Amino acid sequence: MKKIIINGGKSLNGKLAVPSAKNSLLPILAGSILVKGVVKINGFERFSDCEDMLEILRRLGAKTVVKGKTLYLDCENINNSVVESDLALKLRASIYTMGAIMARMKVAKIAYPGGCLIGARPIDQHLKGIRSLGGRIIERHGYLYCKGENLTSGEVYLDLPSVGATYNIILASVCLKGTTTIYNVAKEPEVVDFQNFLNACGARVSGAGTDKIVVKGVGKLLHSCEYKPIGDRIIAGTYLIAVAGCTGNIKLTNVNPEHLEALLYRLEESGCEIKRGKNSISLTCDHRPKALTRIETKPYPGFPTDLQAPMMALETVSDGSCLIIENLFESRFKHINELNKMGANILVADRNAIVKGTDMLYGADVYASDLRAGAALIIAGLMASGYTTIHNIEHIDRGYIKIEDALKKLGADIIRKNF
Ligand code: EPZ
Repeated sequence: MKKIIINGGKSLNGKLAVPSAKNSLLPILAGSILVKGVVKINGFERFSDCEDMLEILRRLGAKTVVKGKTLYLDCENINNSVVESDLALKLRASIYTMGAIMARMKVAKIAYPGGCLIGARPIDQHLKGIRSLGGRIIERHGYLYCKGENLTSGEVYLDLPSVGATYNIILASVCLKGTTTIYNVAKEPEVVDFQNFLNACGARVSGAGTDKIVVKGVGKLLHSCEYKPIGDRIIAGTYLIAVAGCTGNIKLTNVNPEHLEALLYRLEESGCEIKRGKNSISLTCDHRPKALTRIETKPYPGFPTDLQAPMMALETVSDGSCLIIENLFESRFKHINELNKMGANILVADRNAIVKGTDMLYGADVYASDLRAGAALIIAGLMASGYTTIHNIEHIDRGYIKIEDALKKLGADIIRKNF
């Protein structure tokens, strides 16, 4: 089993370029299903989730070529409409293909999605949205049997600002005739990026970043385009938190500080000094983090759920106690037992965790349960005294690019072992 071994306690210093956002690349790949032509993505990154999504697209009939950090995706001859469970179960974003396949192929057979085991992760909002536009979806034997020939533009009211449902409803409606309005949508920066990509392919989508999106259907498939996604704010936040916990200084490029304000002002409260550039963030920290009394995850622009685990790792060595509330996913505390193995002092009650800061963590054998829990364990290992071995790092490779190389560049004593 792949693992990462860290000899902790080193200060981290240096400069890193943030890779393109995984959570932009995945909906962009799904949206490419509606392009009758070639999509060229600059800044493409080989997250394992993106590799799995490309395999889904190849099985639909797309051709893919990756040259360095450029992806050429030819969707001229998409001729299949099935997403099998072997691939769908690997990632949540597989469900993002449903609306696009229904719109292009008029039928779709999609297995239920997988992804991080951080909660039930229902898809009721996806189904509600597409059904309210006339899509027919029957759930049977673990598959969604979909018919799209009656899809019609209209109005959709989401019960909650689901990121994935926002993508799916946009994709089901963008090639229709007429205008579709979607209310109570997700406002994440990746949704804005997705809108910009679709418009580069000839779509007419507006309102992303607000709670209402208007899709002016173009009545045909989309055309070729070239696009570069935004930097990954969650990877950026992970590295900033690591430096805050280990002390040192870091400059991150290719990341928009506006996308991370919910984290940046908390790190300033922790005692870090932060400089915001146009597309860069610098952080300096030379002392133990001050405790944040409360961290509560919320949909964007609130504190991001994807940085809850990394931030909890930081709070384990703060100078006080912190209440962390996870509002988005009902089972996103699996890193707590592993952190407590390293000497952390964390109590849990339902979606609430009380973290009592301790002077020092100690290296241990710990096990990643999901992507961001794994990132939290890496941060803890970097801060701890002695050696930490993080097992099951395939979870981490889903959302970080060669994380050990990036951290080694900052001065960490870290190696990967693939056996
Ligand atoms: C996206 O997941 C991200 N994944 C997640 O990042 C992120 O944590 C999440 O948005 C929230 O920001 C990608 O972009 C690939 P949701 P998604 O639909 O689309 C409930 C990571 O670590 N819900 O906004 O699944 C759901 O159970 C990953 O990179 C319903 O109840 O997020 C959850 O509690 C993890 N019904 C909440 O909404 C639905 O139909 C947020 O889900 C859909 C969602």
